[in-house]
Amino acid sequence: MDVLVVDHPLARSRLTAMRDLNNDSGAFRAALHELTTMLVYEAARAFAVETFTVTTPVAPAEGTRLANPPLIVPVLRAGLGMADSALALLPESSMGFVGLARDEHTFEPRAYMESLPADLSGQPVLVLDPMLATGGSLLHCCQLLVDRGCTDIIVCCVLSAPEGIERLRASGLPLRLVTASVDQGLNDKRYIVPGLGDAGDRQFGGMRRF
Ligand code: PRP
Ligand code: URA
Repeated sequence: MDVLVVDHPLARSRLTAMRDLNNDSGAFRAALHELTTMLVYEAARAFAVETFTVTTPVAPAEGTRLANPPLIVPVLRAGLGMADSALALLPESSMGFVGLARDEHTFEPRAYMESLPADLSGQPVLVLDPMLATGGSLLHCCQLLVDRGCTDIIVCCVLSAPEGIERLRASGLPLRLVTASVDQGLNDKRYIVPGLGDAGDRQFGGMRRF
């Protein structure tokens, strides 16, 4: 599995703002929006393009467009904060949704929503979730996509834990990962260390310490 760590000064500064517990949810969401733009920009390097002729006010020129814009799939709740930035860069894309909540005791995801096209064969998919911790949630989401025929998945995550990366790699699913950081690992509550806390709560309310 291909893993790209976007190690850029601007990405690092937005990630720092997200980690800082003194930042309120507005500042957290603003940093997430900007960082998502950078992650999706890097992810899009791998997208297939086609050329066509465009006419400038002066002369014909060779133009470029995406050959097959990806379906964007934010994983609710926390992935919602990445959706607008991704759609702004990919205005031709459609969007699907997967809703998952991790069980506090088993740490396995509980699915509460799926809104996806029935047939995803030949359709690249861009999955958005700020956190890859144990990997259970992203594995569940990607399996839903593969079950619909998808063979080309790019996942954008703000933070990844080595345990989650290994679990995705071991699954053998056809995916690539773009992330802003691979952190140290997981604590006994399966939160990423040093991480940024609960990405859903940081955006939408509630603030626990771990
Ligand atoms: C968070 C996060 C991921 C998941 C990661 O969501 O957004 O989806 O945890 O953990 P995992 O890799 O161990 O599965 P959560 O389940 O807390 O729901 P939320 O987005 O509604 O806050
Ligand atoms: N989900 C989060 O929101 N944060 C973590 O660190 C792990 C899972």
